[in-house]
Amino acid sequence: MKVSGVDLGAIAEEFGTPTYIIDFKRVRKNYMRLDKALNCPHVIAYAYKANYEPQLVRMLALMGSGATVPSAYGVMLAMWAGVPPEKVVLVGPSPSRQDLEEAVMYKALISVESESEVEALGRIGKARVMIRVNTGVGAGAHPSLITGGQKTKFGLPPSRALSLARFLGSTMEVEGFHTHIGSQILSAEPFKKAVELLTKLARDLGKVNVIDMGGGLGIPYLNEKKFPLEEYSQVVCRASENIGALLVIESGRYIVGDAGYLLTRVNYVKEVGKEKWLLIDAGMNDFLRPALYNAKHRITVDKEKPKEKYLVAGPICESADLFGEYDLPKLGEGDLVVIRDVGAYGFSMASRYNLRPLPAVVAVDNGKYNLLRERENFGRAIFG
Ligand code: LLP
Repeated sequence: MKVSGVDLGAIAEEFGTPTYIIDFKRVRKNYMRLDKALNCPHVIAYAYKANYEPQLVRMLALMGSGATVPSAYGVMLAMWAGVPPEKVVLVGPSPSRQDLEEAVMYKALISVESESEVEALGRIGKARVMIRVNTGVGAGAHPSLITGGQKTKFGLPPSRALSLARFLGSTMEVEGFHTHIGSQILSAEPFKKAVELLTKLARDLGKVNVIDMGGGLGIPYLNEKKFPLEEYSQVVCRASENIGALLVIESGRYIVGDAGYLLTRVNYVKEVGKEKWLLIDAGMNDFLRPALYNAKHRITVDKEKPKEKYLVAGPICESADLFGEYDLPKLGEGDLVVIRDVGAYGFSMASRYNLRPLPAVVAVDNGKYNLLRERENFGRAIFG
């Protein structure tokens, strides 16, 4: 299988498996599509948590992207990547003192989510802030991906957000309102409801400079329809333009999701009764989405039919270490298996569980490839 003119088999041969691939050309295409669709003054503050590979975020910064970061290290990485401080947004429900200090020092925009966070921030200094609102709208492909509505730790209810914004006016630079309703959303409808509420709050407050709609734009993993980008951009642009505010979008998955591939090989095939287990060398430690959200990703192999049913599983001692049931051509030990669309929340959620080193990461771009991150060795992985 070739990606951006590079044979994935050759990469697996050279760097071993499991190895993540990022197609930089695809990332640029996705970013430009989103940027072009947003027909109003806007900043795409790419969500670093989706994939924080330094060369990747630097490329995006060169294309004009901002950064949504969840921690002090995220602020530092954005600065290293050359993102102008005014395009850096710190967002998280419970930032540490260091997170806040770093953001204040670089004059990043801080999304505050509670009155007590505001007190802590006040002890550090004057900051540029926006208030995160729980608009009551939540959406996402799995309950764990929903961050708005009932029983969520994120943001403040609209009336409290408005009071806080009024109260803060004299001590902080209040730039506007923020929301992030969830992740892997494939319809524009929930965004419409949320943006209407944010603009209402903005009008109640008076003038705001910024409306930040968070991320959440989904991608098709199997047979879903594409995200309705035109409709979404019309909805959010119209709303922000109406109140004369800059629109911030914190997209992660939409920009990098389909640009990632996980190269893995078959360790063993095991038949038990009617079940045929394809045991591959990547596990839930390398790629957590299937175990955590029951997510199913496409799998590609370089073989011809006839197909058989396999249960594809990893090497971890957990029953949740299962990628799902797949119809695949007959496979055997050593065959290459490519898990698709792992560019977002793939490597960034990997762990060393079961004493396994973090995998290698390779960039491909226009026929060339380049090792971004070596596979960890014993010393690094175990002794730190
Ligand atoms: N902004 C904020 C405040 C966020 O919390 C997130 C993601 C984003 C932006 C980017 O969302 P995106 O555009 O990528 O949907 N691990 C899960 C996704 C969790 C997302 C957490 N927050 C997954 O693998 O699907």
